[in-house]
Amino acid sequence: MTDHPPVRMGIVGVGTLTLRAILPHLTQADIADRVTVTAVCDPVLARAEQAAQDYGVPAAHPSLEAMLAADDVDAVTVVSPIGLHYDHCRRALEAGKHVHVNKTMTTTVAEADHLIALARDKGLRIVASPGEILRPQVRAARRLLRDGAIGHIAWAECGVSFGTYHENEPERTAGKTAIDPSWYYRRPGGGPVYDVTSYSLHQLTAILGPAKRVTAMSGIRVPSHMFQGAEVRTEMDDNTFLLIDFGEGTFVFAYGAAAGRSNPQFAAATYHGTKGTLDGILLNGEMIEFEGREDTLDKPVTDWEGQCRTLPHVTGPHRDIPEAHIFEDMMQLVRWIREGVPSLATADHARHVIEIIEAGYAAAAEGRTVALKTSFDLPDDDL
Ligand SMILES: NC(=O)c1ccc[n+]([C@@H]2O[C@H](COP(=O)([O-])OP(=O)(O)OC[C@H]3O[C@@H](n4cnc5c(N)ncnc54)[C@H](O)[C@@H]3O)[C@@H](O)[C@H]2O)c1
Repeated sequence: MTDHPPVRMGIVGVGTLTLRAILPHLTQADIADRVTVTAVCDPVLARAEQAAQDYGVPAAHPSLEAMLAADDVDAVTVVSPIGLHYDHCRRALEAGKHVHVNKTMTTTVAEADHLIALARDKGLRIVASPGEILRPQVRAARRLLRDGAIGHIAWAECGVSFGTYHENEPERTAGKTAIDPSWYYRRPGGGPVYDVTSYSLHQLTAILGPAKRVTAMSGIRVPSHMFQGAEVRTEMDDNTFLLIDFGEGTFVFAYGAAAGRSNPQFAAATYHGTKGTLDGILLNGEMIEFEGREDTLDKPVTDWEGQCRTLPHVTGPHRDIPEAHIFEDMMQLVRWIREGVPSLATADHARHVIEIIEAGYAAAAEGRTVALKTSFDLPDDDL
């Protein structure tokens, strides 16, 4: 236990995710002794002010600069478009604030390197979503594969697709100001790989460890989307297929596609081995054992939200608020700041996933295979 006061958290970006999950989670009474939201910021000030009023947040600012100048936060959660994450994390760290950043942390390894160095030099903490490594299901899968449950792993497949998810999110049109999704289709930071395949790549690398090489093919399949009657042109690849080498002849096919899925368990990989198949949390068709499994039994294995109830801070009301895994990641930062317990959801791990993505796009553009340089430590214990 600690007598550290509650962490004063600022929210950068009051868009869909903040309204659906960040504010509902962080303003629950059960965590008021550990974290309190003291400010929000968004260039659409009317939306930030409305949210501040709805959730009892003391301050709403029109920019991150204004929020940092007010100096009423100890830490920020960055919930802005992915292409802005680097700039927002950098400014927050330079101002002496700890950072939780939503996926994907940055779009390049160089940016990730800079954030990691900044945090280290200033003695600040970064927790990077998605904290897939924290999930007992992922730890159990790693143990099973390590112990030979499917023999030699020959190959695996994983990925997620865009579909029409972002233009149809109900939060985008529920308020007085529509929340424009067009950044999901633009550079930098758009496309399904940075958005959703990052979950698969975090799971995969939490289980198999760092990868060695990447090659890919990538293009634009759906040239435009419609939002509120207006056409949004697709300017970033929306159909990307990676082939990843994990060494010793183990290869993984990962996709961030315009549509379609190979596995109904969100972001889960299917591992094919010489003695069987591990498909998400199904070993040769039977559900595996994992810590907290009893909290998921009323939900099908395909229910992502239900399967996230196993995370350590996801208790009480948080079990039924959407995107509980992001709440977990934010509480990992809060605990690290208050109690000095480092999170396994590290910026080093996020950087390695970013390298796989960046290398994949370079490989596709140049028709080659790219060797990876970054790495990260997996804990020695049962992970
Ligand atoms: N939408 C989801 O389902 C979802 C789920 C998990 C994680 N995320 C992550 O959450 C983050 C935000 O996604 P979203 O879907 O909520 O996006 P969004 O488009 O709904 O909202 C982004 C918000 O950021 C604001 N913004 C733009 N420029 C800004 C700036 N300079 N300073 C501060 N705010 C600024 C926009 O006005 C908007 O309110 C992304 O990292 C995304 O990967 C989204």
